[in-house]
Amino acid sequence: MDQALARVRGWIRAADRLVVLTGAGVSAESGVPTFRDAQTGLWARLRPEELATEEAFRADPPMVWDWYAMRRAMVAQVQPNAGHQALAAWAQRHPGRLTLVTQNVDGLHQRAGSPGVLALHGTLDQDRWLEPPRACCHAQPPQAGRPPRCATCGNLRRPAVVWFGEALPPGVLAAADEAARRCDLMLVAGTSGVVWPAAGLAHAAAARGRVVVLNPEPTELDAVAQAVLRGTAAHLLPALLAEGDDA
Ligand code: OAD
Repeated sequence: MDQALARVRGWIRAADRLVVLTGAGVSAESGVPTFRDAQTGLWARLRPEELATEEAFRADPPMVWDWYAMRRAMVAQVQPNAGHQALAAWAQRHPGRLTLVTQNVDGLHQRAGSPGVLALHGTLDQDRWLEPPRACCHAQPPQAGRPPRCATCGNLRRPAVVWFGEALPPGVLAAADEAARRCDLMLVAGTSGVVWPAAGLAHAAAARGRVVVLNPEPTELDAVAQAVLRGTAAHLLPALLAEGDDA
């Protein structure tokens, strides 16, 4: 393992263009449950696949709104961990070399101080209108409620995250795709690699550069990786990105 770590550290030192793609596992050690881990995953208890859809929201807006309120409250109580911090510190020491792409909506990379995070699935702390807003929606603050609504036309506020079946924000996806295609090295940390198009970014990176998977468990993306490091994000990211190894 030490040898594998040293080899990947060398690749990081040599990389002019580094991309890091993160998933729920990167926040696990902050206390945010992942989506698919048996026992602790949010899906095991709450079946998010039935809550995180426009259909579910339209069928029962208060239920889905309350579920997001619970997730927001949970995320507000946790802190970025050593993995988030190592990424933010490396980016600050090496301006312009790292593109951080995350599937996470928890905002922990941003809170750790990572600049220019490409949040493929949006962020939990923002809302938007369910229907295209009319003049009345903008004319007054939304009326409080679960969810808040336009007092005139009834348009509802919804979390500005990407739900199942929805397109990713096109500008964010295009920027992530370009970074993946051009990078020398991509680190893929804490993601099962089962959700596309996010997983496709690792395939795009592998066409030109190296891919390294950081995960305690096997993933769908191990097959495209030149190296797989078995361990947790809060351990491996600091071990790989420590200041003493800087180019
Ligand atoms: P998953 O829950 O599918 O996968 C979490 C991954 O993290 C698994 O591979 C775990 O082995 C790994 N893991 C667990 N603990 C870890 C640790 N301490 N350090 C590193 N890795 C660890 O989460 P994602 O791959 O992020 O999308 O899921 C992708 C998307 O699926 C989410 O963004 C969400 C969901 O649908 C939307 O909400 C649109």
